[in-house]
Amino acid sequence: MKTKKIKKIGILTGGGDCPGLNAVIRAVTKSAIANHGWEVFGIEDGYAGLIEKRGHELTQPQVSGILTLGGTILGTSNRADPFKVSVVKGKKVVFEDHSDQAVEHFRQWGLDVLVAVGGDGTLSIANQLCRKGIPVVGIPKTIDNDLSGTDYTFGFHTAVSICTEAIDRLHTTAAAHHRVMILEVMGRNAGWIALHSGSAGGADIILIPEIPYLMDTICKAVKKRAQHGKKFSLIVTAEGAKEKGGKVIEKKRDPKNPYPVKLGGVGKYLEEQIEKLTGLETRSANLGHIQRGGSPTPPDRNLGTLYGTHAVELIAQQKWGQMVCVQGGVVKSISIEQAVNKLKTVTLDNPLVVASEAVGTSFGI
Ligand code: F6P
Repeated sequence: MKTKKIKKIGILTGGGDCPGLNAVIRAVTKSAIANHGWEVFGIEDGYAGLIEKRGHELTQPQVSGILTLGGTILGTSNRADPFKVSVVKGKKVVFEDHSDQAVEHFRQWGLDVLVAVGGDGTLSIANQLCRKGIPVVGIPKTIDNDLSGTDYTFGFHTAVSICTEAIDRLHTTAAAHHRVMILEVMGRNAGWIALHSGSAGGADIILIPEIPYLMDTICKAVKKRAQHGKKFSLIVTAEGAKEKGGKVIEKKRDPKNPYPVKLGGVGKYLEEQIEKLTGLETRSANLGHIQRGGSPTPPDRNLGTLYGTHAVELIAQQKWGQMVCVQGGVVKSISIEQAVNKLKTVTLDNPLVVASEAVGTSFGI
């Protein structure tokens, strides 16, 4: 792509929302205007706004005071994909490619670059748009922290903090009632939230998608604790955890979504099984979207600011197709291509897995 004079940049937030998105929008807008004199344009509801031509100018006053806010002032969508737009034809839902229209809207707005803030799905689409000639810069976001190429995505720290507080609260009620308490947290394909919050909350058992569990091992672990006078147990499970040889538990399917499966219910399933097989009183709680909402923690606010300002510098250098990232404590960039389509998952030799096992935590195997 040729070098051109940048005048106007577009920004969108895609996929599930995440604490820290507004910190990024603020950082991009403020530094683009103050340091480069560019105009900033906010595309509404992720790629839905690009497909339907919905957006508005972002000015300094509009992004003032949003650093601490959860959600995203631009709105988001985790089903909009210009390459797979759901269209109802008769009784059927079919997916059509509307990417030419999306590119046309980008040009009609007079944008020179698109800043795409999102996880694997949003950045994969950004990469496809880049191949169609749109200059793109990516910023990684997801509470799941499962994006390759970066040590951390903003939102993860906040989610872990919320889950840890929930575990601490379940701890006291579990102890008071001598019960097995299960907390289900998010994490479809990767167990980072369950691992980090479970370890921080002192969970007795942590179940993650990467390590299929054995029900027998879980039951033996809670019974052993009961026999040794510990009359309660705490279990943290990722929504994507599954029994060895079994399947993930689906909450529902959304046929209009190109990514239709919604997970949920593994905590309830474990509750029923553990109570039936051990005779121990068991309860479960599902934290759901509580772990995705609300104000970002200070580390997530700062990561958002670092990512947003670094993305603006990438634009100034016209480094298209790059994604900002943090590796070994240093903020830098890699190609979006390198980051997408291969999730970063928990491995058995992860230091926190090894340390958790060393202090007696079971992973259900
Ligand atoms: O990708 C983030 C995530 O929080 C996943 O862990 C979870 O499966 C999904 O979003 C839930 O999405 P929704 O908001 O559509 O229920």
